[in-house]
Amino acid sequence: MSNIAVIGSVNLDLVATVKKLPAPGETVTDAVLNRFPGGKGANQALAAKRLGADVRLIGCVGDDAAAEEALALLRDGGVGLDDLRVAADAPTGTALIAVAPSGENHIVVAPGANRSLTPEVLSVPAADALICQLEVPTETVARAAAEFDGFFCVNLAPAKQVDVTVLQRADLVIVNEIESAWYGESLNACPGMIATTVGAAGATISKGGEDIAVAKPPRIEAVDTTAAGDTFTAALTVALVEGQSPQQALEFACAAGAAACTKLGAQPSLPNRDQVMALV
Ligand code: RIB
Repeated sequence: MSNIAVIGSVNLDLVATVKKLPAPGETVTDAVLNRFPGGKGANQALAAKRLGADVRLIGCVGDDAAAEEALALLRDGGVGLDDLRVAADAPTGTALIAVAPSGENHIVVAPGANRSLTPEVLSVPAADALICQLEVPTETVARAAAEFDGFFCVNLAPAKQVDVTVLQRADLVIVNEIESAWYGESLNACPGMIATTVGAAGATISKGGEDIAVAKPPRIEAVDTTAAGDTFTAALTVALVEGQSPQQALEFACAAGAAACTKLGAQPSLPNRDQVMALV
């Protein structure tokens, strides 16, 4: 069983299911409100665990009731939380999410305690693979990139400036099409694999400017696309660390991402291995 560490965010997601996503300045009413555990780091950790890896999460929550809600499915799912920090002076991260009937969403994140996971308090774990995203300070991701020894994956989400050393160190960089356009030519600094997702149109892996794998997800009825990218990131890392070829791993990751779109909520929707294999 592969051993994966995730350094990243933990959020409580407040999810409003709406008939249509609001335009700027528009008020949309008649939403149905739910609360789900989320955060890109926590989602990726739980997804990797449900897909069969042994996983620990390094993150930071507030000293509040929202933390327990946000951590509930990680605890139930058996993600290692010994390295989790509790900030005395910041609330647990919160995401405000609106989901339309098409499954598309708008997400606004208030990072709260996730900002307290600074490089000074980070202890970089030993593992077969490390996954980072950008909902914790980018300096923390840079430190992890510099010190970690194994397979290093960075999901450049949400798009923000990162130290070039992160791109140079990454064995695997994952972006969606919006992030890919945002980073533009700066992604040329990556010597490793770059996986780019294009929603229902599928995904590619390129290396040195050449596509080395191309895959399409299975057709599904999308309910909520939240955490599809997180599931894709976890699945691709799990599969590559297991020794699957880039093509096999990409097909597995596309199926996992699609499966995560079939249920409402981030963590309730994360599939287990059997559910993904049924779709591959
Ligand atoms: O990627 C989905 C996640 O983004 C949500 O769970 C939300 O918390 C935001 O971090």
